[in-house]
Amino acid sequence: MEVSELKAYVHRRAVLQAAVATGGGAALLSALYVGAGLVPQEQVTPEREPVAPGDLIVYAQGDRAGQPVNASDLEPGQRQVIAYPMNPQTRVVKGEEPANTLLLLRLEAASLTAETARHAAGGVVAYSGVCTHLGCIVSNWIADKQLLFCPCHGAQYDPRDRAKALVVAPKPLPQLPIRVEDGVLVVAGEFQGPVGPPT
Ligand code: FES
Repeated sequence: MEVSELKAYVHRRAVLQAAVATGGGAALLSALYVGAGLVPQEQVTPEREPVAPGDLIVYAQGDRAGQPVNASDLEPGQRQVIAYPMNPQTRVVKGEEPANTLLLLRLEAASLTAETARHAAGGVVAYSGVCTHLGCIVSNWIADKQLLFCPCHGAQYDPRDRAKALVVAPKPLPQLPIRVEDGVLVVAGEFQGPVGPPT
């Protein structure tokens, strides 16, 4: 890793740790990934490998960071959990690649469209966390409307209908197929579309 890459890496880790330590994780994570697009491209390390079928899904932040997410942890209608994929063989969390940021939430299964339910595990759905407007993390939740909300410029997405974009963003958040194995959430397929803003 070259010096400029190392500095960028250290800076991102410091911001992430500050976000977790202050409890302001959601808002600061959004700022983090806007900045992440400005740093030099780093080599693909195990922590930056793309999400793959069979990966375990683990918490990205908080006291349980790095631990698998149990399907039963998620309550219907609660705000999204921010998560990363983890290689099940090496146990490496692929959290250094912003495009791997995932959103998990449980909704009433009957409220999901048929296409959304096809890639869900019961009422649990997973989407890319990268806003398709300009790439912030979609870290907020509008509880009374059950909508995902990006704090950067106000994009809203409907998680019951393939995270279709309602305001600001040009396209949906791609859904990630998931399944439950031994009570924990596992990646079951590829993203159902390109991650992040249109290029
Ligand atoms: S980056 Fe999400 S609304 Fe602009």
